[in-house]
Amino acid sequence: MASTSWLSPWRQLPLLLLLLLVLASCFLFEPASSTHFPRDLEPISVVDSEQSDQFPGFQGLLQDNDTLRLGLDFQRLLRINHMLYIAARDHVFAVNLTTASEELVPQLKLTWPSEDVSKCTVRGKNSDECYNYVKVLVARDDETLFACGTNAFNPTCRNYKMASLEQVGEEVVGQARCPFESGQSNVGLFAGGDFYSATMTDFLASDAVIYRSLGDGRPVLRTVKYDSKWLREPHFLHAIDYGNYVYFFLSEIAVEYTTLGKVVFSRVARVCKNDNGGSPRVLERYWTSFLKARLNCSVPGDSFFYFDILQSLTNVLQINQRPAVVGVFTTQDNSIPGSAVCAFYMDDIESVFNGKFKEQRTSDSSWTPVPEEQVPRPRPGACTGDGPAADYKSSVQFPDEMLMFIKSYPLMDEAVPSVNHWPCFTRTSSRSKLSKIVVDVSAGPHKDRTVMFLGSDDGRVLKVLASTHPNDSFGSKLLEEIRVYNPSKCNVQGQEDRRVLALELDKERHALLVAFSSCLIRVPLSRCSQHGACRRSCLASRDPYCIWLRTGSCADMAPGFKYVSPLSSCVPQPLFFPLSLSQPHS
Ligand SMILES: *[C@@H]1O[C@H](CO)[C@@H](O)[C@H](O)[C@H]1NC(C)=O
Ligand SMILES: *[C@@H]1O[C@H](CO)[C@@H](O)[C@H](O)[C@H]1NC(C)=O
Ligand SMILES: *[C@@H]1O[C@H](CO)[C@@H](O)[C@H](O)[C@H]1NC(C)=O
Ligand SMILES: *[C@@H]1O[C@H](CO)[C@@H](O)[C@H](O)[C@H]1NC(C)=O
Repeated sequence: MASTSWLSPWRQLPLLLLLLLVLASCFLFEPASSTHFPRDLEPISVVDSEQSDQFPGFQGLLQDNDTLRLGLDFQRLLRINHMLYIAARDHVFAVNLTTASEELVPQLKLTWPSEDVSKCTVRGKNSDECYNYVKVLVARDDETLFACGTNAFNPTCRNYKMASLEQVGEEVVGQARCPFESGQSNVGLFAGGDFYSATMTDFLASDAVIYRSLGDGRPVLRTVKYDSKWLREPHFLHAIDYGNYVYFFLSEIAVEYTTLGKVVFSRVARVCKNDNGGSPRVLERYWTSFLKARLNCSVPGDSFFYFDILQSLTNVLQINQRPAVVGVFTTQDNSIPGSAVCAFYMDDIESVFNGKFKEQRTSDSSWTPVPEEQVPRPRPGACTGDGPAADYKSSVQFPDEMLMFIKSYPLMDEAVPSVNHWPCFTRTSSRSKLSKIVVDVSAGPHKDRTVMFLGSDDGRVLKVLASTHPNDSFGSKLLEEIRVYNPSKCNVQGQEDRRVLALELDKERHALLVAFSSCLIRVPLSRCSQHGACRRSCLASRDPYCIWLRTGSCADMAPGFKYVSPLSSCVPQPLFFPLSLSQPHS
């Protein structure tokens, strides 16, 4: 029934498992147009709007005329300990989660409108852009927030005290740190005192940049300007400070794949934190360590099916005791709507960066690996003082040959494989796509369950018990589908925007914060008491946030809940379907 090409990726698995997979495929797969899609999981429970309308929300300043007309225009969420900062149009709000445990009421508010509105309207762009959209909000140190806003097409940055939202110091120019328009993507973070940003640096959004600035004693560096081998119409999604590097996650037009017109690929890029730029001859004031690789989130089948467009990514967390990141990917815009969650081990990313480089010999030939003997030494992409570049004190001393190479070949040949070479969740029969992800890797009484919360562009949050075990790619369960979007709290003048823009976990208070363009909604992590005294229903929920009590009721596993181990037999243990149900080997 299955061709050998379908089986081949699984050769390394034990024969028994192979049999199980083939049997499971009978009811896991349906033929689709050109490949096999895994069938969508049905939610064990649906939280409808009747229930979710009760969740508390925040909509911004309802007495403000601009807010009444345009809504909150949510931009960013930043959580630091018990404080939640909400960046929006002309405002940053701060909610003390400890005091606001049931409601979402900001204790502090900062108002930062743009001053140059008259100049802005002259430029002939949409006048709704003549505000200050706060697009950067990051911790600069233990006491200071760094914020940048579009400021009516004149991006500007400021520092604020975390505790009081009072401005400290002078304004700095926001160009290359913050986009000019609210719709443009950007990421930013401080690492070792330097500010790393990825954004568009000009009014016309033609110059995309990965940039480092504001450091003490380190030179300002950027990616090479207008060079499509470095960045091509990128959409920046996330940045992570990890080890010697800062990693950037983005999607962009693939330079290496042009047969079907413009195709978007997802990338992980990285730079060394101790990069000082090149020599006066090559790459002076540019990165000497910029490398990038494709992320491979695909469903193998008769033909491969790729989820190429990264939408959202977690920070580094542990999967199977290994550091990893988890991302939500969608299909190309012009293809069948589909979404998948893929995880990537950090050491797999590392291996790809230590592997072959990719080159195009002539402008019309296809891209091929660079032969190893043509790679100069020290190896391009190495950080000074480490590994192959251990003998170099500063990147300005790197040989020209090496700098010339990395300038021309920043792309790696191989794609980063996903954990288990398979998505840990897919959704392909819905017209909506997934847009955001947040992951709890320590759910359940033993803190050993992984729960993913996935936001969609139609206002829902899917709560998924994830299986990332190498032998169990099919084991994920869709615990709840929560219809979070609430038109009465989130519509603006009858207009709705149901796309989930941010998710933030607040486990201490058993809540998930869900941000839309015009509202924030606080969703409890579970609704266990609705199972009442029905033990079977409590256990069937498979919900690691629910616990069956000796006293005969189903309760939320909220923090502070005293877990007594003799109860462990009553704790729902996920039973991995359908492999263990079919018992074909007996
Ligand atoms: C808000 O709009 C009302 C009615 O148009 C107007 O009277 C009021 O002055 C406005 N408030 C502000 C702060 O602009
Ligand atoms: C938040 O509220 C709690 C309780 O009211 C208080 O102890 C704490 O200091 C507040 N935190 C901040 C950062 O304001
Ligand atoms: C993506 O991963 C699949 C499954 O491991 C693999 O067969 C395929 O060749 C990979 N694609 C790329 C472009 O590396
Ligand atoms: C998973 O597979 C490995 C071998 O690949 C085996 O040693 C291990 O026992 C398996 N684990 C489970 C839970 O089946």
